[in-house]
Amino acid sequence: MGTHRFLACVLLLGGVFLGASVLAQSSPTYGVGRTPTAEELRSLDISIGPDGAELPPGRGTPKEGAQLFTSKGCVGCHGANGTGGRAPELKSKDGPSVATWERGRILPVRAPFATTVWDYINRAMPLGREGTLKPDEVYALTAFLLNLNEVIPEDAVLDAQSLPKVKMPIGDDYASLPDWKPRTRRLKGYPY
Ligand code: HEC
Repeated sequence: MGTHRFLACVLLLGGVFLGASVLAQSSPTYGVGRTPTAEELRSLDISIGPDGAELPPGRGTPKEGAQLFTSKGCVGCHGANGTGGRAPELKSKDGPSVATWERGRILPVRAPFATTVWDYINRAMPLGREGTLKPDEVYALTAFLLNLNEVIPEDAVLDAQSLPKVKMPIGDDYASLPDWKPRTRRLKGYPY
């Protein structure tokens, strides 16, 4: 191969690489999908952190929640007062004082933060009709379940300010996971 031919080859290859890298940088279009609308993004952006900064305005009491628990159909799956249904029990038999990772499996007792209970109900319940509850209703249902488990008093009013201040009975225990050994369940005594 003569020097000129060799140079031509190097230049050609260089050109191909340059062209390929320019193509790779400009984003290709596949003709599928579309940019979500602002409304769609808002409807998905529902996560509530421990400090409750993202909580919407609204309020609710245990008494209002007790009525909603029936009118919104929670009773049909969880049973009256959250016990005896085919869905998980919502009232801890052990009471709030013994909540640890191994006992007190009920969410309104074992959740590390009260805001987690709000977030769960808001995003996941009632099963099959998720996302249909209004903020006031979620505050009230959260208040009902926390009162049912003796975490808050009957006259408590939950809103964006008071909910994050609720002290959950599990305290710091949520952070002290039991030691794990190979071929054992990750959370000792936990059903799943
Ligand atoms: C169609 C049946 C059904 C209805 C209606 C229903 N739930 Fe549930 N719920 C379930 C099931 C099943 C689970 C367990 C889901 C899982 O573990 O993945 C559950 C879990 C829960 C939990 C978490 C329990 C725990 O300790 O982990 C809470 C809290 C809860 N539901 C509240 C409610 C409230 C409040 C309503 C009414 C607004 C409601 N549910 C309506 C079936 C239902």
